[in-house]
Amino acid sequence: GFEAVLKRSGTSVLVPAGTSVLRAVREAGVAVLASCEEGTCGTCETTVLEGAVEHRDSLLTEQERAAGDLMLICVSRSRGPRLVLDL
Ligand code: FES
Repeated sequence: GFEAVLKRSGTSVLVPAGTSVLRAVREAGVAVLASCEEGTCGTCETTVLEGAVEHRDSLLTEQERAAGDLMLICVSRSRGPRLVLDL
């Protein structure tokens, strides 16, 4: 698992293996929009402030992946122990 810091909400959540960032964020009571939950629609796109993303979606371009400042939180995860998100 890894930690997701929700900077605007002033909280952080643990994202265990097998749980999506989206689900962990919602369980913390932070409302986020989502639709497909499969990494294809873009509804859950979130700005990444710090940390390295393991992209698992099928929507972002190579350039967007390389820039590392966006992620689709329904499927993508963290490479390291901590992500800071603009949520
Ligand atoms: Fe569709 Fe995340 S909800 S890409």
